[in-house]
Amino acid sequence: MNNRISRFVLLLSVLTTSLSAQVPLYQNPDAPIEERVEDALNRMTLEEKVALCHAQSKFSSAGVPRLGIPEVWMSDGPHGVRHEFEWNTWNYAGWTNDSITAFPALTALAATWNPDMAALYGKSIGEEARYREKDVLLGPGVNIYRTPLNGRNFEYMGEDPYLAGVMAVPYVKELQKNGVAACVKHFALNNQEQWRGTVDVEVSDRALYEIYLPAFKKAIVEGGAWGVMGAYNKYRGQHCCHNARLLNDILRGEWGFDGCVITDWGGAHDTKEAALNGLDIEMGSYTNGLTSDNSLGYNRYYLADPYLEMLKKGELPMSSVDAKARNILRLIFRTSLDRDKPYGSLCTKEHYDAAKAIGDESIVLLYNNGILPLQGDKYGKILVVGDNATRRLTDGGGSSELKPKDMISPLDALRTLYGDKVEYAQGYACGRPFFGHEEVIPQQVMDSLCAEAVAKARQADVIIYVGGLNKNAFQDCESTDRKSYNLPFGQDELIEALVAVNPNLVIANISGNAYAMPWLKKVSAVLHISYLGTMGGASIADVISGKVNPSGKLPYSFPVKLSDCAAHTYGEGAYPGIDAGREADNSLTDYQRNVGVSPREEYKEDILVGYRWHDTKKIPALFSFGHGLSYTSFEYGKSLLSAKEMDEKGSIKVTVPITNTGTKSGKEVVQLYLGDPKCSVLRPLKELKHFAKVAVAPGETVQVEFVITPDDLKFYDEASRQWVAEPGVFNVYIGASSADIRCKHSFKYLSGL
Ligand code: GLC
Repeated sequence: MNNRISRFVLLLSVLTTSLSAQVPLYQNPDAPIEERVEDALNRMTLEEKVALCHAQSKFSSAGVPRLGIPEVWMSDGPHGVRHEFEWNTWNYAGWTNDSITAFPALTALAATWNPDMAALYGKSIGEEARYREKDVLLGPGVNIYRTPLNGRNFEYMGEDPYLAGVMAVPYVKELQKNGVAACVKHFALNNQEQWRGTVDVEVSDRALYEIYLPAFKKAIVEGGAWGVMGAYNKYRGQHCCHNARLLNDILRGEWGFDGCVITDWGGAHDTKEAALNGLDIEMGSYTNGLTSDNSLGYNRYYLADPYLEMLKKGELPMSSVDAKARNILRLIFRTSLDRDKPYGSLCTKEHYDAAKAIGDESIVLLYNNGILPLQGDKYGKILVVGDNATRRLTDGGGSSELKPKDMISPLDALRTLYGDKVEYAQGYACGRPFFGHEEVIPQQVMDSLCAEAVAKARQADVIIYVGGLNKNAFQDCESTDRKSYNLPFGQDELIEALVAVNPNLVIANISGNAYAMPWLKKVSAVLHISYLGTMGGASIADVISGKVNPSGKLPYSFPVKLSDCAAHTYGEGAYPGIDAGREADNSLTDYQRNVGVSPREEYKEDILVGYRWHDTKKIPALFSFGHGLSYTSFEYGKSLLSAKEMDEKGSIKVTVPITNTGTKSGKEVVQLYLGDPKCSVLRPLKELKHFAKVAVAPGETVQVEFVITPDDLKFYDEASRQWVAEPGVFNVYIGASSADIRCKHSFKYLSGL
């Protein structure tokens, strides 16, 4: 019997060996990825390798049909899987099966200050991307919020690199568990939309390493991102999509990135640079991605025939195309050819619940005179005013535009909660969300809408104002920056008129940016709400009614006025840039960038971005980074340090008791900032180094713990190009925001340089 079994086993092993010998190594899902990559590469022709390196359609690049290696399908965006495009136009394809869950914007995710929400976000959006058979999701965006005029801040995670990085890592990890590559963008220094295609940014190495790169580095080194998208702009004279320092020296050299670098659409401008400076896939060239769709075919891309010809002539090394092909093949084996990838899912209850939970935790209560939560039985008539109470804010905004299967508006949700007490007045009009230009509304229309709202306000017991910005051009929209720091469409005047006839005015504004609040002292409460997608209205209504206790904290400062903001302190050379050749024509938008506008810009505020500026220059913000109130109250007890000194091998544990002294359960974000008052270089007064969001029941006390390590103390030393911490006293600030410091300690760092 045993003989027969051993003969059978032997036969089986011979069979499988011979079978596996027939299946090429690259097709063997059990073989190590790097071996599959090399085997596939060795089977490819030069033409096939070059074909991998550029688009074949608006959102796909070629595979290797002869070898059965699939093409790469990419999709926007960071907040949901965008609807399908026609093969080679910016027209939507009109499919009927590509509606999705619209998740909250990334500023909303950042405003939760809750990494668990980021994990839930990445898992949910990854399942939708997988189901929609996308290999690369073009997000998350982690560019730093440098100016409140940037049209795309809503797609990013605020002004602090530590918060943005901590929130990006779980998003990337959970997304990629679905066999979908994250593509962290836009690398790097894409902090405005004005002239985004040509602005040439100069910034100190300290600011680059301490402010603008850390979130990318965390997403790539800790998150393990498989993709990076090059930015449109230049850095030190070279386009970011093929910038030797950013891509070769830093991304691949210092961080060991082994994934794929993909251009922003139209971000490549030179074959030789693209060949040698770390780029892998060229997308969207010869078009500005928007209005000019040149008749040139994909074979005319910089990394297409021109590249092939230079390779064949020996003008460029074959090693350059092999390196690209390896990175692209690795991407394919990690995504579409991962046999074990999950199936994905679309528009499930779980995804709607995820969008709701993230939205709930993202809403920031800035100010409340006690009117909130709004007890319905106290009021006979509740007037809702504002275009954003009904507007589909997933329309417009640029590449993050989505086609949600469902959308709950704030007005619908408020009516569900408060019934027929709710009346509505639009209050102002703003036109359709065209890309790149705005629809002008006749003044008499605006006047009549305002008058109607004021007339209704006189009769109402309380007003809920749902306005703010929107996804129109020159608002929260790609390719154009805002023209003003004030609310648009006459809203300041409207709010003043409303509050003059009825002081019970709750502001529930929706925006992806800070804005001026000249009426702040007259209103009863202010909620700051990011774009929340499918479940947005429900989250807003639940917070207003008290079903949800707000726990969001600001991921960016609200300056009182624009000139209080660092980027707007040093003239046009610091923002939006000054054209070296001629006075930059401010009327030029992104579209006309091909007419030779090439402004130069220097980030003169250096490392003092956001609260770092407000703290160090002693310019109080209207509402500070990290600020957010609750319907309950929290007491910060006596915090303790485990030691009063630390050396380079040491650490210090910080414990902070947090007590809920109110009557409602709530969540608090305890923030720990560090300051290095006596340093050989200028450092901000304090910088965020740790935070924790804790749920606390009424009367309960929770111990929050942090561990300070030497890495938390370091700054980037330009001379040595190292991160260093100098010996001396360091200050520990524990607070409910960057400006609301509840306790302060100090300790001595004994080692250093
Ligand atoms: C756009 C955006 C980028 C987007 C890409 C594809 O211009 O800058 O974020 O992913 O093109 O739509």
